[in-house]
Amino acid sequence: MTEPVRERLDLSSKDPNWWRQAVVYQVYPRSFADADGDGLGDLRGITRRLNHLAALGVDALWLSPFYPSELADGGYDVADYRDVDPRLGTLDDFDALAAEAHRLGLKVIVDLVPNHTSHQHVWFREALAAGPGSPARDRYVFREGRGPHGELPPTDWQSVFGGSAWQRVPDGQWYLHLFAPQQPDLNWANEQVRADFRSTLRFWSDRGVDGFRVDVAHALAKDLTEPLRDLGAPELSGEEALGEFPPGTHPFYDRDEVHEIYRDWRKVLDAYRPPRMAVAEAWVPGARRALYARPDELGQAFNFEYLQAGWDAQELRQVIAGSLADARAAGASATWVLSNHDVIRHASRLMLPPGTDENAWLLTGGHAPRVDEAAGLRRARAATLLMLALPGSSYVYQGEELGLPEVADLPVEVLQDPIWEQTGRVRKGRDGCRVPLPWTTTGPSYGFGTGGAWLPQPEWFAQYAVQAQDEVEGSTLEFYRTALRLRRKLQEGESLVWADDSPAGVLDFARTEGWRCVTNLSDTAVDLPPGEVLLSSGPLEDGRLGPDTTVWIA
Ligand code: NOJ
Repeated sequence: MTEPVRERLDLSSKDPNWWRQAVVYQVYPRSFADADGDGLGDLRGITRRLNHLAALGVDALWLSPFYPSELADGGYDVADYRDVDPRLGTLDDFDALAAEAHRLGLKVIVDLVPNHTSHQHVWFREALAAGPGSPARDRYVFREGRGPHGELPPTDWQSVFGGSAWQRVPDGQWYLHLFAPQQPDLNWANEQVRADFRSTLRFWSDRGVDGFRVDVAHALAKDLTEPLRDLGAPELSGEEALGEFPPGTHPFYDRDEVHEIYRDWRKVLDAYRPPRMAVAEAWVPGARRALYARPDELGQAFNFEYLQAGWDAQELRQVIAGSLADARAAGASATWVLSNHDVIRHASRLMLPPGTDENAWLLTGGHAPRVDEAAGLRRARAATLLMLALPGSSYVYQGEELGLPEVADLPVEVLQDPIWEQTGRVRKGRDGCRVPLPWTTTGPSYGFGTGGAWLPQPEWFAQYAVQAQDEVEGSTLEFYRTALRLRRKLQEGESLVWADDSPAGVLDFARTEGWRCVTNLSDTAVDLPPGEVLLSSGPLEDGRLGPDTTVWIA
């Protein structure tokens, strides 16, 4: 393989803007690689496999939580923000991982979970012991219940994972948990909470991390003025209902006050050289989302509208143009993501007909409708090549470089996602995209580790293994490697120009210096614009661009 070309995009550690057009690879630590053979991925496993990321040609890795946690929500229930889960390693292992990543020219981003702690966090234990009205309870959101004996939750707010967002404790008070009951929400009006997170940002920044992914960034500020307001209908608790409220007025999502927190953090992050980057996970539409990405706040926000868009040229064009405009107006760089640990892998998702109930599909084990695997892969590769041509940062989820589809038929007995139990076994949850990666075509867990895997891997994983694709012409892995290598050479500037004469169902835009990306989302082959085809996501059809195919042309 040829060396990555870095002359256009300065990714040296001193460049304060390295993240603006980076490709970031998401590692879900439990499922990446298992060095000690206990079936759970760990930090030493990741360090051993960092060469895979370097060879892939990404700029950074983002580690989902690896902190002490009982894994009630896959590690997003953090018991100690400044340590490593003993099952995943030690702080020394983290230092070794970061050092090796930096040696390979990879930046390291860690996940910060500020909306809630684990119920095992020392603060929550103190809060339970200290009782109602105590300063320890003020770090969380404790309230009396309603009803003659306080037996009803304080409000009708619903948890994202299903059921009431309130849980009662033995002394009769209730605490708020927007996610699982094991994830009590913090009270961000409490100065100790704020000070402690500043310390956490410094702790990891001092250890050399290059940035932070901020979990549920839009939920930290809550309207806790008494009496707390009911929402009136369960669905109004969801982010999808934000449009029903005047901007900034939902009781717990996307409130205007949340931005003060990030302005405060930016001062901490900017004290480092280069300043530490941050990216908000904020399921908030359009221009409101971009506010989190302002230069005096986090700098970037995940763009989930792109992920949620259907495989439709008009819709995608609108989302792309809107996202670029929003990011530009906020002074931010845009972001793009097709898969992560919370959604159905895009090699399967993009094939589901518009309007499919994804949970119902998972409950059929992925059989109704049946997804044609080869067609899914073809579409996924086209979507990826389109994404990688867009100005801004792309976030790639582990396993998508192998073309992995969703493991839709996990038997319900093995499910670990709290969503399954919390919805009374109605929603199957997110385990199907979290199955440990296949590295080799044989072996006890396809090279994930020397033992088993915490979620069962299907037999067909063998054909997607890294070993099955490495140096194999036309494989999805080699396709990603080539695309990332080319992107590094071509990427410049943050704008694109749409071709206005493209046929219906075709997206066609030019980046600077004659680099052009054309995607055919229609059902028929179309002529290619003039120029040399640098890379194609699939075979051309007699020199024409077939359906579900993207090309880069120069
Ligand atoms: C978003 C994370 O991506 C998801 O996995 C988690 O369950 C929730 N936030 C709660 O932390």
